[in-house]
Amino acid sequence: MKTLAIWISALLLCASAAHAQTAPVPQAPLAPLYQALGEKPGIAALMGDFVDRMKANARIGKLFDEIKPAYLKEQLTDQICELSGGPCKYEGEEMKKSHEKLGIDKAQFNLVVEILQAAMDARAIPFSTQNQLLAKLAPMHRDIITVQ
Ligand code: HEM
Repeated sequence: MKTLAIWISALLLCASAAHAQTAPVPQAPLAPLYQALGEKPGIAALMGDFVDRMKANARIGKLFDEIKPAYLKEQLTDQICELSGGPCKYEGEEMKKSHEKLGIDKAQFNLVVEILQAAMDARAIPFSTQNQLLAKLAPMHRDIITVQ
């Protein structure tokens, strides 16, 4: 009788171990801002349009002649993905280094923000989501603006 009890407990233990192995592994919840931006595909589409709009802009378009649009789109996608809490790692140049030779002033920085807002409007990204992203980008002005 004792042996039977041991067998039954052993069987139950095996069954619960097997169950534990097949149970789904809990995933870390995605950051709300990353989700609101449409995750990686949404961010990639937004950055694609953003770069096209900057290149087409009469006031700043020429600045982008030296950089491959596909490379810039990819770097921006990784940067915004990481910044919004997504599972990406930005591995491009530091903001200070990549912008220091461009002689960017406050008006140009504000223009880029306006272009990003227009690209977000075009994708019907809610105003509150837009503001959250812009709040994360705003401190970068210290590394990007070099002309007072
Ligand atoms: C918060 C605002 C900005 C962000 C997050 C940003 C982000 C970036 C990133 C990720 C790169 C690629 C870095 C690399 O080479 O690996 C880049 C390059 C560049 N950015 Fe910005 N940028 C911002 C503002 C601006 C502004 C205001 C301008 C000009 C009006 C500008 C013009 C450029 C140009 C021309 C390049 C290419 C430089 C080259 O030829 O290597 N950016 N930026």
